Amino acid sequence: MLFSPFKLGPVTLRNRTIRAAAFEGMCPNNLPSDQLTAYHKAVAAGGIGMTTVAYAATERSGLSFPHQLLLNEEALPGLRVLTEAVHKEGAACSIQIGHCGNMAKRSVTGLRPLAPTSRINMYGPTFPKAMTRSEIQESAKAFGRAVKLARSAGFDAVEVHAGHGYLISQFLSPYTNQRNDEFGGSLENRSKFMRMVMDEVKQAAGTDMAVLVKMNMRDGFLGGMQLEESLEVAKMLQQDGADALVLSGGFVSKAPMYILKGAMPIRVLAHYMDDALMRVFVRLFGDVLIKKEKFEEAYFLKDALLFREQVDIPLVYVGGLISREKIDKVLGNGFELVAMARALLKDPDFVNRLLDDELSRSSCDTCNYCIARMYSREVSCIQNENLTAEMRALLS
Ligand SMILES: Cc1cc2nc3c(=O)[nH]c(=O)nc-3n(C[C@H](O)[C@H](O)[C@H](O)COP(=O)(O)O)c2cc1C
Repeated sequence: MLFSPFKLGPVTLRNRTIRAAAFEGMCPNNLPSDQLTAYHKAVAAGGIGMTTVAYAATERSGLSFPHQLLLNEEALPGLRVLTEAVHKEGAACSIQIGHCGNMAKRSVTGLRPLAPTSRINMYGPTFPKAMTRSEIQESAKAFGRAVKLARSAGFDAVEVHAGHGYLISQFLSPYTNQRNDEFGGSLENRSKFMRMVMDEVKQAAGTDMAVLVKMNMRDGFLGGMQLEESLEVAKMLQQDGADALVLSGGFVSKAPMYILKGAMPIRVLAHYMDDALMRVFVRLFGDVLIKKEKFEEAYFLKDALLFREQVDIPLVYVGGLISREKIDKVLGNGFELVAMARALLKDPDFVNRLLDDELSRSSCDTCNYCIARMYSREVSCIQNENLTAEMRALLS
């Protein structure tokens, strides 16, 4: 099953594996680099069915890192080189598009962050501006424009980021959306922005690009979106023409470890932060503010099975897949595709190794050094690094 092809909307994947969108940190000045191409080419050569370029902002106001991709005209030449390199290795290529909303950084965008509601986001920390109706419309249109650019860059698929507490998720979540107009209140109202985005995205994707949506099953804290509502969201996305749903959970500003579980190396995270104040804050309070989440393989499977029962479109399972045994179990439970982030950060050729039976389990031990590196210029796995004694001490 794992190595059988799969038709995802209009795109045929050579097998059932996807490299999950995982921020690479390889886009200095918000533009794709040779390093970004080399990384995705390596994952493609490593046997993946489809690789996903992470976390591209649909417009400048949606950026939160200086080394995060902005999907505009200027990025096209570099992205064309990337998609061509991936295709040459036999893999399909997707790009995740999103807007950081209250997680956007004024120091990167030059603008006050936008959000459904003007409420302080302690994680930034940011004090966002509540979006006007016309800003909401403009933002949805920007998703459509981003898809057109992605298509012209040669991508086979787009993945709309509707989870993890970014802008669409901020509209969906009762925690971040306290609007009194037609975009707030009931789930129907809170999902309006997402549906406007889907409308633009589907029109722009036409008939030859696949549209995936990464969504939350649970936000991961009390007061956030829970299963009952997210099952409804999944049904809406099915109606709105999504070719597949990527089922995740967690909220970067409130429950970041819910997304990936495992250790949180606070001191490494602080070490790489540019902002001196944030560095001190995270070192002092990180352990208290960031709730720990125990890792177990395939940790989202129980929740994801409920979606399998109620949704008919293809589902991509993501979360804690590091062994052949669990990958086969997930596929055996009716999920069409599996996505992995950390196993592929450790071994870009993990899929080929599974095929050759050379490695049936990744040596990723979910130390999450990789996520702590988000603030540096290049996300990487600790096991693939020659770390200095100073850095080892930070980890101990
Ligand atoms: C270093 C790193 C960066 C990530 N960046 C993103 C991202 O940009 N967008 C996203 O949707 N998820 C992101 N994630 C979450 C992963 O896509 C995935 O949902 C999560 O890591 C669980 O999968 P895994 O157990 O295979 O790592 C990131 C994860 C890691 C480890």
